[in-house]
Amino acid sequence: VDTDKDTIFPLLKKGQVPRHLAVIMDGNGRWANRKGLHRIEGHKAGADSVDRIIRACVNLEIPVLSLYAFSTENWKRPDREISALFDLLNYYLKKKFKTLIKNEISLKISGDIARLPPRSRELLKNTIEKTANSKKLILNLCINYGSRDEILMAIEKLVKKRIAMGDIKKISSQPTWQEFEENLYTGDLPDIDLLIRTAGEKRLSNFMLLQSAYAELYFTDVLWPDFDEKELFHAIDEFQKRVRKFGGLTEDVVKSDVLKNINE
Ligand code: IPE
Ligand code: IPE
Ligand code: MG
Repeated sequence: VDTDKDTIFPLLKKGQVPRHLAVIMDGNGRWANRKGLHRIEGHKAGADSVDRIIRACVNLEIPVLSLYAFSTENWKRPDREISALFDLLNYYLKKKFKTLIKNEISLKISGDIARLPPRSRELLKNTIEKTANSKKLILNLCINYGSRDEILMAIEKLVKKRIAMGDIKKISSQPTWQEFEENLYTGDLPDIDLLIRTAGEKRLSNFMLLQSAYAELYFTDVLWPDFDEKELFHAIDEFQKRVRKFGGLTEDVVKSDVLKNINE
């Protein structure tokens, strides 16, 4: 295929695009290192990739995009890298505010923002509030996000709700999946359909372990700052070729099996 984005995106649109696309954006540091630059330059270049992928999702009418931007484990990094990352987040939020409004994108955060620098918290809250009515794309930024933290938080929320209801018997009964799931950060989002990880690493690094239960996984060696529309095309093209069974059987397998029994 010709991989110019004006030719390829209409091709993808004919098939099923993911309802929820998630990306573990990895390799910013390595990208910078290879160019003899500081790691933060890699993060800056990564922000341009974020721009590109958001635009592509709007184009393709993908309704939910989750981006893993900072994990609960990323606090282990040197202070100067952490503060540069949050400075970059602040700069990006200010710079892109109008673009979000114009393209009808609403911002959502998954993660515990209490630990973030006050300025980032303030900007995030403000952007979330002002974009809340936008309906084209939900941009779910995962910041200070970790699946294990999220699960513990969800249990606490669930128990508190039950206590508030005051029904003693109900407090210790097993919840349904639905009752539990509502309490995750992503309680209002569909499960992940396609999960992309860049930079050659084949692990989840504590990202959306439950929401990815039936996600199609796509790994690429391309570093995040080099990830463009063409790479996204490859990922979605492969997604559209995968057979998703969710534990069941496809129609044709069932049919051919029935035929076998008749012939015996
Ligand atoms: C991903 O790039 C961005 C964040 C985790 C914030 P990395 O910073 O992990 O880049 P590498 O893995 O060192 O190349
Ligand atoms: C995962 O990348 C976190 C983000 C992309 C924000 P890391 O670079 O932190 O993951 P590990 O350390 O390689 O597992
Ligand atoms: Mg990394």
